[in-house]
Amino acid sequence: MTATAMPASAFRAAMPPTDHVPRPYTGPARDEVLQLRRQFTNPAVFTMYRDPLMIVEGHMQWLYDETGRRYLDMLAGIVTVSCGHCHPKVVAAVNEQSSTLQHATTMYLHPNLALLAKKLASKMPAGLDVTYFVNSGSEATDLAITMARLFTGNTDVIALRNAYHGGSPGAIGVTSHSTWKFPIPSNVGVHHAICPDPYRSPFSGSPEAIATQSATDIRELIRYSTPGKVAAFIAESIQGVGGTTYGAPNYLREAYAVVREYGGLCIADEVQTGFGRTGSHYWGFENWGVVPDFVTMAKGIGNGVPLAAVTTRMEIAQALTQRIHFNTFAGNPVSTAAGLAVLEVIDEDGLQENCRVVGGHLKAGLTRLAATHHLIGDVRGMGLMLGLELVRDRATKVPAKAETLDVVEAMREHGVLVGKGGLDGNVLRLKPPMCITIADADFALDALDRALTQVGHA
Ligand SMILES: Cc1ncc(COP(=O)(O)O)c(C=O)c1O
Repeated sequence: MTATAMPASAFRAAMPPTDHVPRPYTGPARDEVLQLRRQFTNPAVFTMYRDPLMIVEGHMQWLYDETGRRYLDMLAGIVTVSCGHCHPKVVAAVNEQSSTLQHATTMYLHPNLALLAKKLASKMPAGLDVTYFVNSGSEATDLAITMARLFTGNTDVIALRNAYHGGSPGAIGVTSHSTWKFPIPSNVGVHHAICPDPYRSPFSGSPEAIATQSATDIRELIRYSTPGKVAAFIAESIQGVGGTTYGAPNYLREAYAVVREYGGLCIADEVQTGFGRTGSHYWGFENWGVVPDFVTMAKGIGNGVPLAAVTTRMEIAQALTQRIHFNTFAGNPVSTAAGLAVLEVIDEDGLQENCRVVGGHLKAGLTRLAATHHLIGDVRGMGLMLGLELVRDRATKVPAKAETLDVVEAMREHGVLVGKGGLDGNVLRLKPPMCITIADADFALDALDRALTQVGHA
């Protein structure tokens, strides 16, 4: 069916109601803020949308601009707001800790860090029970690779093409998108293996066969490009920035086996996929039946508060004790108070199950839209980590880059904020706060239907 055969008006979902009333905004005018940003911030600090959006308040799945206009947040501050914007329990925990002790450093004992480390261990497979807290996902990537190198005595690291693991000098080395890489050396000892995503694989066959060929290729990469020993393999359980890409369920199991044969440790980057977002499991790697040696996490663990971590086994963590390692804000009492509250809220509010149910509903709706809108080349993901690859032609798969931007803009006009990703920027990313409802999902689908109709007809 073409876009014309099913008019966008075939179904209409109203913006679901909320009791929340935003406060009147009394700060500087949007134009003034824009001018200050342009004049006084590094121009690399980019904004989304042709006409930048100013956001001044948030409540659960809702965001408000300075005029009080409400938006459904389907990106969650780039997959960071796990429980909902300003979730009352997280806010209360942060406020309580902020007014008691804001900072002390890990040189002193504080209950929050110890309790959060214990709580994380309870969520992990047995043996993964030692955590080092940091402030960002990039730091977590760097630290996991450092520990892997120290423990194994090897240097080489295998990462996947199309991966994003952060922007620090170390993390950018394992990141594999030319759009993020500066022309300065960063990849020392890093090798990028073929991404197992079946939609754009150089291999052919079933997704499982592509996964096996991609995993086997790691062996060749190690044999040809390394001393025959590696320190680590790092992979997202589902590539986030890359556009919700992943291999068939056998991929990580087979890749881990190859890497371990050559002495490497396996790092699961759970920065986007952790904390129940994939619905069926608490951690993304559990979907693939593997147990990593490190789990790196950030974003959702703090619900917006800067907090990240690396969990590993005690024997591996010991490797870091051979020299001093210190991080001023690591395990800060306020961030760890947020982390403790977040982990409780995920369980109390049933957010993992909500991701499964609402995510399943949303994915089914996206698949239905794909039957109507030929711009949609592929619908991917699980739980509330979904992606929609837009292509100009389903046979040639030419990325619909400009159209994706137009859809993102049109959805904003319809009151829904989404993200985009992929090397060519042609993947719509739907990764809302994990508290959205079926009604919210329907509203987002309706906005997407309308946006795709507008863009498809332009
Ligand atoms: C999978 C993944 N790993 C690591 C990072 C880096 O996290 P941060 O921006 O907190 O440094 C990101 C950020 O988007 C990410 O998506």
